[in-house]
Formats: sequence, structure tokens, C-alpha cells
Amino acid sequence: MKKGDKVLVTGGTGYIGSHTVVELQQKGFDVIIADNFSNSSESVIDSIEKITGKRPVFEFTELCEREQTQSLFKKHKDLKAVIHFAAFKAVGESVENPLLYYKNNIFSLVNVLEAMKEIEIPNLVFSSSCTVYGQPDKLPVDENTPLQKSSSPYGETKQMSEKIISDTVKATFLNSISLRYFNPTGAHDSAMIGELPIEKPNNLVPFITQTAVGKRDELQVFGGDYNTPDGTCIRDYIHVVDLAKAHLIALERLMDNKNKSKNEIFNLGTGIGYSVLDTIHSFERVSGEKLNYKIVQRRPGDVEKIYADTTYANKELNWKAERDLDNMMLTAWKWELALNQKTNTPA
Ligand code: UFG
Repeated sequence: MKKGDKVLVTGGTGYIGSHTVVELQQKGFDVIIADNFSNSSESVIDSIEKITGKRPVFEFTELCEREQTQSLFKKHKDLKAVIHFAAFKAVGESVENPLLYYKNNIFSLVNVLEAMKEIEIPNLVFSSSCTVYGQPDKLPVDENTPLQKSSSPYGETKQMSEKIISDTVKATFLNSISLRYFNPTGAHDSAMIGELPIEKPNNLVPFITQTAVGKRDELQVFGGDYNTPDGTCIRDYIHVVDLAKAHLIALERLMDNKNKSKNEIFNLGTGIGYSVLDTIHSFERVSGEKLNYKIVQRRPGDVEKIYADTTYANKELNWKAERDLDNMMLTAWKWELALNQKTNTPA
């Protein structure tokens, strides 16, 4: 990798995308963001500039429209790599509107791969998910675990995407690394970027912070009768900055030809499983706030417990998640407070 190498980040104004753009720019990469703000905001570009002192190039693009993707790539022929984040990610919404998910997540990937092939851009880092494992029989789950049938169209799009990538790299000069994220959470230490749910959040941590700040009356804990030590579901929460750093390492691995096969897959988690109640208690401890929560019925489609075996990523990428649950909760809380201050400040 050379300073000034150009990288395209699709979905670069989104939650994980924006944190990754910060890391890339701080490492000296020239970043081009392609996004349509479908689940993000233009102000994220200003925040990235404030944090890094550099404004990324921005291209408004509907990646599921072939023509738009083609012109984006033709305009930036000197790209060295692509990190493809742009996708919809709400499990419940995907069950209600599967076509939206298949169109958005699959068309965009196919268009991006086609354009990469045409313009001869060799390196792709893809944003995958532990959702591809379903409820695995054995925990912790490693990368060789057979994939289970998806419980949602969203999960299906991630499995299909991995398959599309694996077939494409076999047939072309392309190289790819797919990163299977466990549960990303937390925010940048600057509290200038973080998770920004446009509507009511689906995920646990933004729901916790919104409840604590008074935007929501109560947090519902979905299920207290699971076969876990405290009866609530177990997940592997990982700090978004740790995740962003892993993208940088994966990208450099590809650009420096250090990858061991044309299509590599890594789990990104901490390897530690925490229950919903663990996260609530951690939040209460670091914020000093008492959270109003109630245990209610299970949420359909939730797996009981999942956490990563991260041995392969630790060894091969020489990467390890560094931040603990308290730091995830603290940074998520600072971000929520900063957001709240912004909305309450008169213009
Ligand atoms: N939860 C609650 N109350 C809430 C929200 C969530 O109790 O208001 C619980 C869930 O039941 C679950 C845990 O908190 O036990 C985590 O739920 P999230 O919705 O935050 O995350 P999921 O594990 O359901 O989903 C995440 C990603 C998906 C991905 C999935 C794979 O958000 O993109 O992991 O397992 F597909």
C-alpha cells in the first residue's frame, strides 16, 4: 500500500462505513465514498472531515442502478480497492419486504463486481455477518462451521453475496476478503460519529441509549427464559472501531498480496458472549443511569446464543479486538448525549 492509494467505500456514510473511512484516511488512503443516504446522513461527511482533517470525495450513487455504478467506476478508474458496505440490514424489515432486500443487497453487489471486473480493480473487502451461521450447533463458531438455512431474507442476501463473490473470484482476477461481523456497537471516541438509526432502532444498544436519554419510555428485553445463565440471549458485541481497524488490515493484506487464497473469510468478534442483562448492567455502571427495562416475550427469529471463535482472524490478520463491553457502552452513551445536545441546541 502506498500513501494516496485510492479506495472506494460504498456505504461510507453508514455506521461501520464511516468509522472505517476515518481509519483509512488516518492511514493515508484517499477515500471515495459512494452512498445514497438511505440510512445515513450527509452530515457524517462533515464529521469525518472534522475528525481526520480531510474531506473524503463523495459520490451520490444508487448502486443497485447499473448505469450509475458504471459511471462511478469510470470516473474513478485508478481505484486500488473497494470496501463494499452498502446494504440494508434490518432483519424484521427484510421479512416484511424481501424484494427490497434482494434488489438492494444483491443488485448492488453484482453491479459493483461487474464494474470492478470491467475497470480491472482487483481487491474487494466485503461486509458479511454472523447471521450466515444461524444458530450453530457448536460454540464458539469458527469460519469452517457449515452455514445454516437463513432465518430471514436479510441473512439470505449475506449468504448469497458470499456465494456470488466466491464464484466470481474463481472465474476472474478478483481477490476478496469477507468479514463476518458479530454484533457491532459503540461509537468513535470523538463522539462525532456513531450509530444513527433514522427510525426506531432495531438493535439493542441504540435502544438502551435512547431509553436512557428519554427518547423511549422503556427497553423491552426480548425473552427471559432462554437456556442461558440469566435467561436472556447471548451475543458477541464488538466495538465498531475495532471492526473498522480490521477492515484496514484486510485491505492492506489484499493490496500487499499477502492473502493466502483468492477468497478469504474471517470472523470479527471479541470471542466473548454477553447476555442482554450483562449489556444493561454494563451500561448502567458506566453511565451512572438507571435503565427502565422490562423482560417481555421472545422476539421471533432470535438465536439463543452465538459468539465467535476469533483464532483465525487473530492469527492470520494479527488483529484482536481491544475494547471491552464497558468501553462499547460508554462510547455509545457519549454519542447519544452528543446527538441529544445537537437536537436540543437552538439554531
Ligand atoms: N434485544 C432486546 N431488546 C431490544 C433489541 C434487542 O432484548 O429492543 C435483544 C435481542 O433479542 C437479542 C440482542 O438484544 O438477544 C441483540 O439484538 P440486536 O437486534 O441488537 O442484534 P441481533 O443479534 O438480533 O442482530 C445482529 C445484527 C444483524 C445480524 C444478526 C446476526 O444486527 O444484522 O446480528 O445474528 F443479522
